[in-house]
Amino acid sequence: MKQNIYDNPVFFKEYISLRESGVTYNDFVEQPAIKSAISSLKDKSILDLGCGTGHFAQYCIVNGASRVMGVDISRNMIDQAKKKNGHEKIEYICTPIEDLDLHNQKFDLIISSLAVHYIEDYSQLIVKVKSLLNKNGEFIFSTEHPIVTARNDMKNWVKDSKGNKLHWALDNYQEEGTREQHWYIDGVIKYHRTISTLLNTLIDNGLILEKIIEPQAIPSGLVQMPKLVNEERRPSFIVIKSRSLS
Ligand SMILES: C[S@@+](CC[C@H](N)C(=O)[O-])C[C@H]1O[C@@H](n2cnc3c(N)ncnc32)[C@H](O)[C@@H]1O
Repeated sequence: MKQNIYDNPVFFKEYISLRESGVTYNDFVEQPAIKSAISSLKDKSILDLGCGTGHFAQYCIVNGASRVMGVDISRNMIDQAKKKNGHEKIEYICTPIEDLDLHNQKFDLIISSLAVHYIEDYSQLIVKVKSLLNKNGEFIFSTEHPIVTARNDMKNWVKDSKGNKLHWALDNYQEEGTREQHWYIDGVIKYHRTISTLLNTLIDNGLILEKIIEPQAIPSGLVQMPKLVNEERRPSFIVIKSRSLS
């Protein structure tokens, strides 16, 4: 099932206002980690799967990329991307990743920031990614950590009567598949996969694993968002970097 929550007006308004605050898990945990995994952007052709409002596409161009293609299912996100992060070297396409058909095109870097947990068929995604990578091309993606998506209700902190976080509950780990969450709106669907599925599907498709990051908050993030200290108790995200040798 392809879900397009970012075109839900309530969700979109809340999400954009959160991201525009600049005080988010993205700013202080996930983005620094995924950027740290990139070897180089200079003269690279880049495909951004689930590009959102295009800030990463713009970052690539500023850092010397030769061209970027940004793909997103959400018309709202693509419209914002064109408006706020448009550039002659960036092409934005509004389509589900699952339907993306780019036959003859190849890229030096395929990146996907926090979109893979919305994709039902991970195996098909990796086959597609592999077919779109140049020789030596990198595939770097971040996703919600399996210890976050595992528990069926995704309510993981066990708290005492005063609301103090006692520990993180992990359950249902081997039950891969749909999880439903309230995130601004009811019925947000994500897909849980185990670490072994995330990694072995890459390996089975001929990709070489190069780096795994379970990121912690950067120091300025801890100052602006003290609750990020909890990333030391359990990681919210995982960043996986792989490479195609053929
Ligand atoms: C958490 S946002 C991240 C956006 C961007 N990568 C960033 O880091 O700011 C996830 C994005 O994935 C997009 N998305 C979700 N499912 C998708 C799908 N099946 N095909 C394409 N884009 C999808 C959403 O519309 C949204 O823009």
